[in-house]
Amino acid sequence: MAYGLLNGKRGIITGALDDKSIAWKVALKAKEEGATFTLSNAPIAMRMGAIRDLAEQCEAEIIPADATVVEDIENLYNKSMDALGGKIDFVLHSIGMSPNIRKGRPYHDLNYDWYMKSLDVSALSLHKMLQTAQRMDAINEWGSVVALTYLAAQRTVPFYTDMAEAKSMLESIARSYGYHYGKAKNVRVNTVSQSPTMTTAGSGIGGGFQNFYDFTDKMSPLGNASAEDCADYVITLFSDLTRKVTMQNLFHDGGYSMTAISEEVMQMLQQQ
Ligand SMILES: NC(=O)c1ccc[n+]([C@@H]2O[C@H](COP(=O)([O-])OP(=O)(O)OC[C@H]3O[C@@H](n4cnc5c(N)ncnc54)[C@H](O)[C@@H]3O)[C@@H](O)[C@H]2O)c1
Repeated sequence: MAYGLLNGKRGIITGALDDKSIAWKVALKAKEEGATFTLSNAPIAMRMGAIRDLAEQCEAEIIPADATVVEDIENLYNKSMDALGGKIDFVLHSIGMSPNIRKGRPYHDLNYDWYMKSLDVSALSLHKMLQTAQRMDAINEWGSVVALTYLAAQRTVPFYTDMAEAKSMLESIARSYGYHYGKAKNVRVNTVSQSPTMTTAGSGIGGGFQNFYDFTDKMSPLGNASAEDCADYVITLFSDLTRKVTMQNLFHDGGYSMTAISEEVMQMLQQQ
């Protein structure tokens, strides 16, 4: 059911790689809720082509941008404002990548060049997107920026390796920039800490993703939150209903982050 929560709003949605991507679901919901927006991803992801189907469904222009390159981000804001006919009301940062995870390097054997790449792509890119927006005055007053994060920023998940630091940094940037952008332009910045979700980035995490997914599902009183659930939550954060929410890391995980042990997990252990 649509509520018209984003009627008249203009946005930028990054990170839709395929129909499993959280950003893909956010785009479909944003369209349903009345927004117009552009879609962006790294030029290399464009070649995979799936984003074109989404763009058609959402009547959205695709603007390639490597989120680590400031000139690309400038171009993204300029072209988005041209295409949408004005300044931006919401931005989704749905970007994460760790070469160390891709190449199976454990935490005690990280490659430091790749570590820097993980931080640049997955965390610093949020600062670049915010600083560039503020410099260009590309985001409207009371605009909303949301980045997706994960609980490993607070609690150790051994196979999340350098992405744990990337997510801590991402959340810290959201807090710090949320202060400055809030003061300057009433723009709010939040992170949403999402359950494990079956996407390309999610299932790329080592440790047997399906087992991990089942475990967190059994631990969470409400079960894991799906990508669709996440999209619903993100839409509320883009809407005017959450105008005073900023600088927060918001857990969207069916209660997992506050649960120490569940009956289902106890039963699982007893059955072994
Ligand atoms: N899937 C999960 O379990 C889970 C849980 C919590 C948080 N998250 C976060 O959600 C976000 C979206 O991930 P997803 O699960 O939808 O997976 P996904 O693989 O569909 O999305 C990740 C996106 O990042 C993009 N990207 C990588 N490098 C880039 C660059 N240099 N410039 C621009 N874009 C780049 C990829 O092309 C891809 O579209 C990520 O930040 C991820 O860490 C995912």
